[in-house]
Amino acid sequence: MTVRRSRIVACGSALPRRAVSNLELAETVDTSDEWIVQRTGIRQRYIAGPDEKTSDLAIAAARAALDRAGLTGSEIDLIVLATTTPDNTFPATASRVQAALGMVGGVAFDVQAVCSGFVFALSTADNMMRLGQANRALVIGAETFTRILDWNDRGTCVLFGDGAGAVVLEASLGNGDADDRGILSTHLRSDGRLHDALYVDGGVSSTGTVGHVRMEGREVFKHAVTNMAECAEIALKANGLTVDAVDWLVPHQANRRIIEATCRKLGLPLDRVIMCVERHANTSAASVPLALDEAVTDGRIKPGDMVLMDAMGGGFTWGSALARW
Ligand code: ACO
Repeated sequence: MTVRRSRIVACGSALPRRAVSNLELAETVDTSDEWIVQRTGIRQRYIAGPDEKTSDLAIAAARAALDRAGLTGSEIDLIVLATTTPDNTFPATASRVQAALGMVGGVAFDVQAVCSGFVFALSTADNMMRLGQANRALVIGAETFTRILDWNDRGTCVLFGDGAGAVVLEASLGNGDADDRGILSTHLRSDGRLHDALYVDGGVSSTGTVGHVRMEGREVFKHAVTNMAECAEIALKANGLTVDAVDWLVPHQANRRIIEATCRKLGLPLDRVIMCVERHANTSAASVPLALDEAVTDGRIKPGDMVLMDAMGGGFTWGSALARW
């Protein structure tokens, strides 16, 4: 049976100019390189300057992905952009990206699922493409997450960074089995009861301020491992596969220990995991596409590989996407 799918044909990414090491951070925050590396695996993060907005990073990542696909913005008919740190309260940051890329038709909008945002955006675009509502899409995860950090809260401010990643999706036809190239399935979940374990204490209709990230670290850690492992297993089961079929896991880059514990639960060796948390820290919605771009560019992810993307974030939200590259 012929089925319509979407396939990732190119990736791109962008980072702010300024990298800040743990040592530099420890000059102003009561922390140490040793504590951060031991608890999280993070060694540095990129911090956007005042002239580097979420849309600037998103546009740069999108342009890099379009260049690699040999396409221009006018050939794209859908942009789904995941962010928690939009340029403005409205309109969507995707509108700025649409205009900058010279895309005059189609539709561009934002989705908000914090660190799961890229997987939620990918799922949204994939479903629209399966239904024939779009033929070529840009899916972007972009954040200036450091803008919502409380630099006096050492339990959170050392964990995050800024950046953007983008992928170009093209509609393709397949046989409907796991040998098809393209996105095989996506799986999204949320549980609003866990809202208070990870949230921002401000907002348009609550305080009228932007607010800062608040987090119960241990609670988040526990749920992240359980939920990411659960969503990975759901994706494999839905496609009649076991963990042995996975060539690369591209997990949300929150913390090395979360990724290692998730892999132990799944029975997946770490040499099949893409990890860049040490250089980027947690870039929220940008983390999965940043990791993807790195692994595709350096040749680790190759055509035909089975790639499992997996994320968890505030809400709580969590989700996975399985793709044959
Ligand atoms: N530097 C030095 N000491 C610190 C720091 C810091 N940056 N932060 C906390 N501490 C201290 C605490 O004050 C505490 O000291 P005390 O024992 O004297 O009271 C001690 O370290 C232990 O604090 P805990 O919070 O219990 O440390 P824990 O081992 O739980 O590690 C961490 C904290 C790294 C945040 C961990 O809970 C974690 O990784 N949680 C997951 C959070 C996460 O990744 N969130 C990202 C968003 S969600 C997502 O992306 C999936």
